[in-house]
Amino acid sequence: MDLKIVLLGPPGSGKGTQTERLCSELKLTKISTGDLLREAVRNDTPLGAKAKGYMDAGRLVPNDLVVDLVREKLKAVKGGVILDGFPRSLEQAQLLDKFAKIDLVIDINVNEEALVKRLTMRRTCKDCAGVYHLEYNPPREEDKCDRCHGPLYQRTDDTEKTVRERLRVYKESTLPLTKFYHEKGILRKVDGEGDISTVYQRILKAIKAKK
Ligand code: AP5
Repeated sequence: MDLKIVLLGPPGSGKGTQTERLCSELKLTKISTGDLLREAVRNDTPLGAKAKGYMDAGRLVPNDLVVDLVREKLKAVKGGVILDGFPRSLEQAQLLDKFAKIDLVIDINVNEEALVKRLTMRRTCKDCAGVYHLEYNPPREEDKCDRCHGPLYQRTDDTEKTVRERLRVYKESTLPLTKFYHEKGILRKVDGEGDISTVYQRILKAIKAKK
């Protein structure tokens, strides 16, 4: 499949979880700006040093740090791709239009209180970025990733205070993108409530309708 797909949706709507499964089952390449930035922070690179403060505060990292990163990654991809976490402002979407043609944008909808619960109880693998939830999707062994046995940790931006700020930033900067992509005729809304497999089937249906 060689579609270029954007997964939109608020923090905690399941973009990362669904991207993992879609990429593995449909042989798509993942480009996740959140994962790339966290890796840069972990490796203490110049990019990571500049991005860290914004991420810990729940604010968007400036465009000059993320847009070129995505452009370079996209250039290297053969076949289909899922963009998870990019674009997340009108300006980023307009810049993206200059170097890629997006085929489908899936907007995952989940109510705000459910998002807070999902994020504050999320655990992430330090080694492979695999995502778990203490109640809804617990790891088989406590504090260990099922896939690679790496240690699980709580992201520094998953405290309730920062989650609420991320949701505010989402409404202010990212939500207007739904109108932008609706007007282009490529937006599909998907109900993100229900268990992970149910949401996956809804997304798959939207992708198959596009093929
Ligand atoms: P990023 O990593 O992109 O975070 P986000 O968009 O806030 O999204 P999340 O990763 O928090 O949530 P998700 O939707 O992927 O949900 P998940 O699948 O994990 O960005 C982090 C930061 O980096 C930003 O704040 C910003 O600073 C910076 N950044 C990144 N991209 C940027 C850009 N383009 N421009 C500028 N700055 C940028 O699921 C959440 C939890 O819910 C998990 O525990 C999971 O197990 C559980 N779950 C998932 N689905 C379900 C379900 N159906 N039912 C029950 N539980 C579920």
